[in-house]
Amino acid sequence: MDRLSLLLFGHAAFQYLNAACELKLLDLLMERGPLEATAIRAELGLAERAADILLLGCTSLGLTRKEDGRYRAAELIESLAEEGDWSKLRDTVAFEAHIVYPGQEDFVASLRENSNVGLRRIPGDHPDLYHRFSLHPRLETVFYRYMRSWSELANAHLVAALDLHGATRLLDCGGGDAVNALALAAHHPHLEVTILEIPSSAPMTEKKISEAGLGERVSVVPCDMFTDAFPGGMDCVLFAHQLVIWTPEENTALLRKAHDALAPGGRVVLFHSMSNDEGDGPVVAALDSVYFASLPAEGGMIYPWRLHEECLRAAGFTAIERVEVPGWTPHGIIIATKPGTEPAAEAASVAEPGTESAAEQGA
Ligand SMILES: C[S@@+](CC[C@H](N)C(=O)[O-])C[C@H]1O[C@@H](n2cnc3c(N)ncnc32)[C@H](O)[C@@H]1O
Repeated sequence: MDRLSLLLFGHAAFQYLNAACELKLLDLLMERGPLEATAIRAELGLAERAADILLLGCTSLGLTRKEDGRYRAAELIESLAEEGDWSKLRDTVAFEAHIVYPGQEDFVASLRENSNVGLRRIPGDHPDLYHRFSLHPRLETVFYRYMRSWSELANAHLVAALDLHGATRLLDCGGGDAVNALALAAHHPHLEVTILEIPSSAPMTEKKISEAGLGERVSVVPCDMFTDAFPGGMDCVLFAHQLVIWTPEENTALLRKAHDALAPGGRVVLFHSMSNDEGDGPVVAALDSVYFASLPAEGGMIYPWRLHEECLRAAGFTAIERVEVPGWTPHGIIIATKPGTEPAAEAASVAEPGTESAAEQGA
């Protein structure tokens, strides 16, 4: 019953996590703890009953612990903060609270209709969430802060797995605030990156590129990647957190465009969460699929690895390689090749002497 009661009250458990973040309880305890309840309520400006509720929930759920009448943050939270990941988790909590929660109220209707019924909770005319953000600047900020953090929880593995020593031109499709493009460009000083992004979000992408001081090598093209042509002559095309949004047919269409944009021997790279081929986990992939069923676009889920591999084969790619990403998020990487052996592309797929790629090491 413990597990079932946590499911029954899962929404309430999340409210404690969200309150601990928004009221900055855990940050206070990490800065100043351990503290007694009286000091906590004074610092947070909460009435006695309100602080008692918050501390009861956070302590029984293991976010805080109580020792000798004083409260401190759980060891897990402290170690996340030490590794620099606590703020990324907080950004994810804000995304769940402000964007996913309203939309997932329509999860059952979304399953029944096999469509993103929950998008009606974010007013606007466009059939996808991203084009509606310009009408909701606060939600847009919450979303891109989360997207950056969610990418940064795993993109060091992308940088390590993807050997780009011989590549000079990379296309990042739906690159968001350039978080992954900038990480790859910073690691490969010879690399030029073109980002495709919708016109209403492109200025935000541009701003992040200029703040990073990489405007000479990283640029954004405002466009619709479904209807506009991709620039050609690419050594590598990246889809990061992209092919979880659309239907398999739409994914295959995007992969065909990537195939056309690549030089022979060039590679396409998928970087996002994956579910297992058996369809029974991991649990975070299942939980995240509620969002993809309800909100961003008509089709989408955390698909199994095999489904992406089928789409890649249908689009003409070969030498398909899986790279499992360690960690609590269900991130994975798939690298596939456009057949052909042009010199630049050949160099791109071969590690420099003495630098065995992380992918080859199974990173
Ligand atoms: C889930 S976010 C991923 C952002 C980024 N790749 C990352 O990993 O952080 C999807 C991005 O695709 C962009 N996008 C959606 N539809 C698009 C379209 N038709 N053309 C170009 N970009 C699109 C969205 O604006 C959004 O920034």
